[in-house]
Amino acid sequence: MKISNLGYVILSSPAPDAWRSFGLEVIGTMEAPAPDGAVALKIDEHPFRILVETGEADRLQAIGWEMASHADLAAMRDHLAGQGLAVRSGTAEEAEKRCVTEFFATTDPAGNPLEFYYGRTGCGEPFVSPIGTSGFVTGAMGLGHIVVSAAGAFEEAYRFYTTTLGLGDSDDLTIASPQAGMPDMRVRFLHADNPRHHSLALFNLPSPTGVVHLMLEMENLDEVGRCLDRVEARNISLMASLGRHCNDNMVSFYVHGPANVPLEIGCEGLQLDWTRFEPTVSTVPDHWGHAYQLGAE
Ligand SMILES: [Fe+2]
Repeated sequence: MKISNLGYVILSSPAPDAWRSFGLEVIGTMEAPAPDGAVALKIDEHPFRILVETGEADRLQAIGWEMASHADLAAMRDHLAGQGLAVRSGTAEEAEKRCVTEFFATTDPAGNPLEFYYGRTGCGEPFVSPIGTSGFVTGAMGLGHIVVSAAGAFEEAYRFYTTTLGLGDSDDLTIASPQAGMPDMRVRFLHADNPRHHSLALFNLPSPTGVVHLMLEMENLDEVGRCLDRVEARNISLMASLGRHCNDNMVSFYVHGPANVPLEIGCEGLQLDWTRFEPTVSTVPDHWGHAYQLGAE
C-alpha cells in the first residue's frame, strides 16, 4: 500500500494561458489536450503532469499520488476512512480528465488537497519538446517534487504523511531566521516508494498559492543552464539563484512561474537505496548558491 510516486499536480488560475507560454517557451514542456480552457503540460510519456484549470484564484487544487494497483488504492482508501478522514471517490468524468482509471480525494491536516489514483491512461506518446529540451527525469520517480505549506499544523501533517500515508523521512532541515523576531524555517523532506530523495516536503510557513515550490528535474546541467538563459532573456524574476542543495545534491535555480508559483528547475538529484539510508537532520541548505532574491516577484 505504499505510495509509488508524485504523478500529477492540478492548479487553478484565472489565467491558465500564462502557463502555456511559460511551459512551452521557458521550461520546454509540450502542451497536451485539455478541456474547458485548461492548460495541460506534458514532460514525459504520461499524458500530462501539470494541469491548470480555470478558477477564481491561483491555487493548488490537487497533489496526485500514484498507487501501484487497484488493490493498493482500495487499501489506502479503507485505511484513511478507518482513521476517520473524509474520502471522496472521483467520478468517471473526473477520472477521465486526470487520465486515470480510478481515484479518490481527501485533504491533509494542513488542508492541502490530495488525490490518490492508479492506472494512468493515455501513456506512451513520446515527449518531444517544442524548443528542444532533451527531457525530464521522471519514470518510476514521478514528475519531480512538490513542497507545500503545513503552517499551523506542521507536526500533525508530518505524522500524517509518515505514519498514516507511509512516506519515509529523508531530511529534517531547520534554517535559523536571519532576522531577530522572525520564525525559523523548517522543512521536512519525505520520500515515496522510489529512489528520488524527496517527492514531498512540508514547510512550516504559509504560502499564498499553496505551492511553496514545484520541482522539475532536467537531464543535465546544460539543460538547466539553457533554461536559465531563457528565463533571463524574458526578464522573469528568480526566487533563488543557481546553487547546489546539500540534502539531495541537486543543482537548481528557482524561478517565479505564473502567479508567482515558484518552480525549481534542477538536475543531478540524488537517487537512493532506502534500505541503506539514514535520515538526516540538517541546518545548512546549500553547498553553494541559491541566494534568495528578496523582494523579487
Ligand atoms: Fe526543491
